[in-house]
Amino acid sequence: MFQTIQSATEMQRHADDLRRKGKRIALVPTMGFLHEGHLSLMRVGRQLADELVVSIFVNPTQFGPGEDFETYPRDLDTDLDLCRREKVNIAFTPSRSEMYPENYQTSVRLDELPNHLCGLSRPVFFTGVATVVTKLFNMVKPHIAVFGEKDYQQLLVIRRMVKDLNLDVEIVGSPLVREADGLAMSSRNNYLTAQQRPAALSLYHSICKARQLVDSGIRESGRILSEAVKIIGAHAENDIDYLAICDTETLDHVDVIERPVLMALAVRVGSVRLIDNSVLEPNRQDG
Ligand code: PAJ
Repeated sequence: MFQTIQSATEMQRHADDLRRKGKRIALVPTMGFLHEGHLSLMRVGRQLADELVVSIFVNPTQFGPGEDFETYPRDLDTDLDLCRREKVNIAFTPSRSEMYPENYQTSVRLDELPNHLCGLSRPVFFTGVATVVTKLFNMVKPHIAVFGEKDYQQLLVIRRMVKDLNLDVEIVGSPLVREADGLAMSSRNNYLTAQQRPAALSLYHSICKARQLVDSGIRESGRILSEAVKIIGAHAENDIDYLAICDTETLDHVDVIERPVLMALAVRVGSVRLIDNSVLEPNRQDG
């Protein structure tokens, strides 16, 4: 059976009930405008639990001033149809005032991980994410929660927060899903015009080039990053926020690639900010 719940206390009561009956609950937190990337997380959650809850909430606290909170794409009816089709049990769709009632004043902030990559140009982002995810965990009371590797730094932040705060939730990471042409799926791809698409695709092309260089024996991050700058910079509408090769756990910069490293990038294509990433493996065996 499929149902939608808007109230936090009703969600908590329902979760208590499920737990009393011995059911395992999986949560997939989202901001809606669902696409195949989100659906892939739902399928993972479906496999690992008895009850699958998807939350849909465009979280205002993770958007900075001048970012796209107001214009973030929303289509709840289509989202609910997709949830039904994926055999989701509960779509949890709290309102803004349900999440952040008047006089709300508490947040969850990490000290180190946000001082890298996306956290530098989006200073409130990870505090907003950590806070809303903590609240969702307390409302849905999941045994497991599934997050996409598309938002690699976000996944690290959630794992760190769960350890640091002794939260009793198992965090499962799920692979990045791409469009047929290689563009990482994102609700924000909806903003791209047909003319901007080749520019957006250059993020993926720079990752492919990086893999090729690493496979051919190149180990200096600087060389790989300068190739990426050339590929992305060839499109006039692109403005690079960051391009990094870094440690897969700490996100500290890595100069020489001697172990698997994370290549991560954020680029503004016109006014649309896109991110992408891939782990580069220096001793990858083909086949
Ligand atoms: P949102 O951008 O809607 O993403 C929800 C989940 O889907 C995240 O775990 C994200 O990593 C995953 N996802 C998005 N695109 C994906 C893709 N192409 N492949 C695989 N997974 C993908 O991330 C958020 O919302 C919010 O920050 C949230 C965690 C819900 C907190 O508000």
